[in-house]
Amino acid sequence: MILITGKNGQLGWELRRALAPLGPITAVDATEMPLEDTGAIRRVIRKVRPTIVVNAAAHADLDRAEKQGDLAMAINGVAPAIIADEIKRLGGGLVHFSTGLVFDGVKKTAYDEGDPPRPASVYGESRLAGEAGVRGVGLPHLIFRTGWVYGARGKNFLRTTLETAAAGLPLREFNDQRGAPTWCRMVAEATALVLAQTGAAQRPDALEDYGGTYHLSAAGETSWFEFARAILQRAPEPLRSRAAEVAPMTTREAPVRARRPANALLDCTKFTETFGFALPDWRESLDLVMEEMEISR
Ligand SMILES: NC(=O)c1ccc[n+]([C@@H]2O[C@H](COP(=O)([O-])OP(=O)(O)OC[C@H]3O[C@@H](n4cnc5c(N)ncnc54)[C@H](OP(=O)(O)O)[C@@H]3O)[C@@H](O)[C@H]2O)c1
Repeated sequence: MILITGKNGQLGWELRRALAPLGPITAVDATEMPLEDTGAIRRVIRKVRPTIVVNAAAHADLDRAEKQGDLAMAINGVAPAIIADEIKRLGGGLVHFSTGLVFDGVKKTAYDEGDPPRPASVYGESRLAGEAGVRGVGLPHLIFRTGWVYGARGKNFLRTTLETAAAGLPLREFNDQRGAPTWCRMVAEATALVLAQTGAAQRPDALEDYGGTYHLSAAGETSWFEFARAILQRAPEPLRSRAAEVAPMTTREAPVRARRPANALLDCTKFTETFGFALPDWRESLDLVMEEMEISR
């Protein structure tokens, strides 16, 4: 049994699909297993008795986290260790998702797993605490740090850009922040491949040999400004014509609470070398997402 949290989130939904061949799945949302409620976490895990928990739930709103520090810390910082502790009692393992925002974004090149974390936001601090909590429990686990996640469903940059363009509103995006737009389906499928290849869905102890922290994002790099243009260039008319109207802006010009890092690039060499498969370039994934959205329209 695999227990997936955040079942209706971008990643959680794709995990339900991608992990299905690995065994029976129980997926829960925030009402079924509220992560700020440690008693609820323990009750659900004891009832479901999973072999592996895949924790795709998070307080994922960077700006709201600045105002809701206690809640963000409960969900992102404390809950992962409670989950880890419960699943350890059952002899199971944990796959936990974290973020590149544990780094401050000042480095000039992509961050690797050996770089010292230095969060620049309440959100980043809460995620770092969550990672430390999982490691502290000492169970077979994987922590996958990702970033700039989007998909055909949910609230994300791709959908917001298409909606803004369709509404005829101005399109202004940061051109001084670098990252790799990462399709949530790619992250889910990479997770499924890792669990299948290591046998961890049946034998979580297998993660002892691979356990630890990995960066998992698309290959390549871009800015939000270039990403917005790439989205609209792949859209049907009349949205496609609006690609040329996307205007660059700087981080300083934005009225947001939490500071976004200039460099959100993650070096995924450790992941690709350990598990032996490549992570596709963000443009290839974007082509597929846009084709899928076009077909389903
Ligand atoms: N989105 C990104 O750009 C990005 C970047 C880096 C890392 N990540 C990480 O990747 C993972 C998945 O992100 P995502 O983009 O799929 O996020 P998402 O679409 O915002 O989904 C987050 C999920 O968390 C659940 N959740 C929120 N509060 C909860 C609570 N108190 N108790 C239980 N569940 C709660 C939500 O459940 P309900 O639907 O029931 O409310 C939702 O399904 C997260 O760890 C996230 O931090 C995401």
